[in-house]
Amino acid sequence: MSFHTVEQAPGRLNRSELAVPGSQPQLFEKAAKSDVDVVFLDLEDAVAPDDKVEARKNIIQALNDIDWGAKSMSIRINGLDTHYMYRDVVDIVEQAGERLDLIMIPKVGTAADVYAIDMLVTQIEDAMGYKKRIGFEHIIETALGMQNVTEIAAASKRNESLHFGVADYAASTRARTTIIGGVNPDYAVLTDPDTNGGRDVHWGDMWHYALARMVVAARANGLRPIDGPFGDFSDPDGYKAAAQRAAVLGCEGKWAIHPSQVALANEVMSPSDADVTKAERIIEAMKQAAAEGKGAVSLDGRLIDYASIRQAEVLVEKAAQIAAG
Ligand code: GLV
Ligand code: MG
Repeated sequence: MSFHTVEQAPGRLNRSELAVPGSQPQLFEKAAKSDVDVVFLDLEDAVAPDDKVEARKNIIQALNDIDWGAKSMSIRINGLDTHYMYRDVVDIVEQAGERLDLIMIPKVGTAADVYAIDMLVTQIEDAMGYKKRIGFEHIIETALGMQNVTEIAAASKRNESLHFGVADYAASTRARTTIIGGVNPDYAVLTDPDTNGGRDVHWGDMWHYALARMVVAARANGLRPIDGPFGDFSDPDGYKAAAQRAAVLGCEGKWAIHPSQVALANEVMSPSDADVTKAERIIEAMKQAAAEGKGAVSLDGRLIDYASIRQAEVLVEKAAQIAAG
C-alpha cells in the first residue's frame, strides 16, 4: 500500500438513484414508497425555466412533509452558469436542510466549482446550526469535467460520489449516439474474413473509456462511482446490460429515470448469494492459510492470496450493508 491513506466517503447505499422532477410533485409519494436507495429531486434539466421557482417550493415542502424513510435524499441544483443555482442552494438548504443528505452538482467543470458551492453550503449550515454535513454528488458530463475529474474528485471533504452523465457528455464531446446510455452499432470491430470469407461484427461499448476514467478518479479519492441514465425505459434488458458493464468496471450504482428501473439497478448492483458464500469461503480459507503461515493457497483449484481477501471483504461488507438497509 501507498503511505497515502485514501479516506472513504460515508458508506451510503447507492445501488439505485431515482431522478424525480421537482416540478412534478404527483410523483413524490411513489418515489418515497419505492425501494430506491437514493432519490434526487431535480431542479435542473427535467424542469422547464418557467417552473424552476415552483419546483424549488415543491421540493422544500416534500423534504419537510413526506416520510422518505431511510432513503438518502438529494437535490440536483442548476448549473453554476445559471442564476437559479444560488437560490436552489440557499432556499433549500435553509428551509429543508435537516432532511437533505446530498447535493448533486451538474456539469461540474473544475475544482473551483466545487469550492464555490462548498463555501455557500458551509455558511448556510453554520448559520442554521445544522449538525449534519451535506455531501456532494458530482455529475461528470462535460469534456471539461472529465479532463479535470481527478481534481474535482479531491476538491472537497463533502464529496461522496461521481456520476457519469452520459447524455450531456455525448453532447459535450459531440459523440454520435442513438439512445441515452445505449451503444452505437458504428462503434464496432469487423473481424478479418474467415476461410469462407465470412466476417463478424463485434459491437463495442463506446462509453468504456469515459466510465473507466471516472471510476479510477472516484476510487482513488474514496468516492462511489455511479453510472448515469439509460433512456429507453421500455428496454429492461438493455438497461441491465448497461448496468452490468458499469458494475464490472467498479461502479456501485446506476440511475433510474423511471421507477421500473429501480429494481433492475438494485438487482445488478447487489452481490448474489453465491458471490457472498464464495467470498466467505475465501476469507475462511485465507484465515486458515495465515494460521499455517502461508500467504497464498488454492480454493476450488484456483489461487487466492491477500488481494482475494480484500475483494471478498468488500463484497461481504456490502451484503451486510444491504441486509441492514
Ligand atoms: C445526466 O444528467 C446526463 O446528462 O446524462
Ligand atoms: Mg445532464
